Amino acid sequence: MNLMLFGAPGAGKGTQAKFLIEKYGIPQISTGDILRAAIADNTDMGMEAKKFMDEGKLVPDSTIIGIIKDRLAEDDCKKGFILDGFPRTLAQAQALDKLMADMEILLDKVISLDVPDELIVGRITGRRVCSKCGASFHVEFNPSKEENVCDYCGGELIIRKDDNAETVKSRLEAYHAQTAPLIDFYTDMGVFVELDGTKDVSEVTKDMIAAL
Ligand code: AP5
Ligand code: MG
Ligand code: ZN
Repeated sequence: MNLMLFGAPGAGKGTQAKFLIEKYGIPQISTGDILRAAIADNTDMGMEAKKFMDEGKLVPDSTIIGIIKDRLAEDDCKKGFILDGFPRTLAQAQALDKLMADMEILLDKVISLDVPDELIVGRITGRRVCSKCGASFHVEFNPSKEENVCDYCGGELIIRKDDNAETVKSRLEAYHAQTAPLIDFYTDMGVFVELDGTKDVSEVTKDMIAAL
């Protein structure tokens, strides 16, 4: 199954991806996680991307499309995959379309998690992420079983560098200006499903599984 999770920053894409990985045994491809790993490894690409990410701006399309091209070519994607946070521009969506056509595969569903901007700031400022596996938790809405310890891998939970009220504003602006227009693109393709992302984490998971 080839899936895409779509939605504003903090909508819950990373959180729901974890359930899909377990249920379908397919990998999550989060361009944000790949970029953060490149920053941690101090690669040239990571250092270049960091400037954009710290300001809450989108990383240039050429960098992102290169990342996805390499990642989709890996063996574990043969069974399917979950795109998380990609594509975010029309150019990225068109590049994905072409890549998938070359691979002779189809996109099964785009699951969009709809959450209004007013709720996003609280979600992002209370988020804690695993320093090892990238899993997302929330101090109030989705706490880990043990404080600051990841439920999935035991890694230490940290605060993402771009998770502050100021950066959230530019991330939301980028979402509305550059990413939200893709809703029409995927609606026309007949694969777009919108879910209410304001429900509890487990309710959203149920709706998502039902939609699939
Ligand atoms: P990325 O890492 O993708 O960040 P993002 O889009 O801002 O999305 P988030 O990871 O913040 O949100 P999420 O939807 O995964 O939410 P989560 O599940 O964690 O990208 C970071 C940066 O990298 C970008 O700003 C950009 O610079 C660059 N980048 C990445 N991809 C790019 C691309 N394709 N093109 C260009 N640039 C790119 O949940 C959020 C919080 O809410 C958590 O605390 C969680 O526990 C909580 N929560 C989740 N669900 C619920 C619920 N139902 N109820 C209550 N709380 C909930
Ligand atoms: Mg995420
Ligand atoms: Zn972890």
